[in-house]
Amino acid sequence: MTRATAVAHPNIALVKYWGKADQRLNLPATGSLSLTLDIFPTTTTVELTNDPMDRVMLDGVELSGDESARVRSVLDLVRERAGTGTHALVTSTNTVPTAAGLASSAAAFAALAKASSAAYGLSLSDAELSRLARRGSGSACRSIFGGLVRWNKGTSDETSVAERLEWQGEPLAMVVSVISSARKKIGSRAGMNHTVTTSPYFEGWVSSNNALVERASSAVERADFTSLGEIAEMSALRMHASMLGAEPPLRYLTSRSFAIFDAVQELREDGLEAYASADAGPNVKILCRSREASLVAHALRERIEDVKMHVSNSGPGAYLLDEGERPSAA
Ligand code: DP6
Repeated sequence: MTRATAVAHPNIALVKYWGKADQRLNLPATGSLSLTLDIFPTTTTVELTNDPMDRVMLDGVELSGDESARVRSVLDLVRERAGTGTHALVTSTNTVPTAAGLASSAAAFAALAKASSAAYGLSLSDAELSRLARRGSGSACRSIFGGLVRWNKGTSDETSVAERLEWQGEPLAMVVSVISSARKKIGSRAGMNHTVTTSPYFEGWVSSNNALVERASSAVERADFTSLGEIAEMSALRMHASMLGAEPPLRYLTSRSFAIFDAVQELREDGLEAYASADAGPNVKILCRSREASLVAHALRERIEDVKMHVSNSGPGAYLLDEGERPSAA
């Protein structure tokens, strides 16, 4: 095959990844655990060409600089494995507001790993695809899989890999609030490196979050939604605490974000179980039961003005599209 198209969805970490142990291999300082969404898919086509260089188009605009270098670095790994120097045209369509803390890079690099390995004729296992996606963006290693996913931090390229977790409980959902879809000022990569090098709280974050990965995994095994939700909210707030301790401080959450955290707590007090989380941006993601998701979204719209709420159920892992086929969820 010289051309392949793949679809991948974003994932939202319930136990966060923040900080690297190894920059080159993109090994994380802590494990993490996420839910893959069924909204905001990215569709990526990789086509081998006779051009003297790779070209990367995102939503009709050609990428340059760091963004295209990251894509090329993943293509280089694929080429090395396939034993070829042939360049490629990468065309990607995003449906998630780019760089708003909504994990667009996770879906993007998962789709790139899946499409590029197929285009270059490699047949990789999901674990191998997860490792490849990780080299483009850490959180992308989780979007290779659907549902609940655990990224084992590992100590090497081979061992730092995600795996799917079985969930026997009631179906889960995520309500994604969009307060702002503006491009964030400091991306996750720069933000986490800044936290690692300057925050006195980073060590506390790492040791406590590794413990949360274990507690969350055992909550998943027991199908214990309440514990999973409580752990998710705690991990998100601890991650933000580590950033607030940086010099200069790194603050992604706004008063509007905290208003949503407050509203979610009120819902819980009223008996509607929901838990708030947020990444490298102001938008808050709310974990809840699938059957209560529209109720949660409605209750939050009533309490918070001018905020968009997108309801997502548990989504699929990255998959290839047949030639001419359109993504089902796009
Ligand atoms: C806050 O995966 O974007 O969303 O590995 O440098 O590409 P790089 O970072 P990235 O970081 C995601 C950070 C987060 C938390 C998470 O998704 O676990």
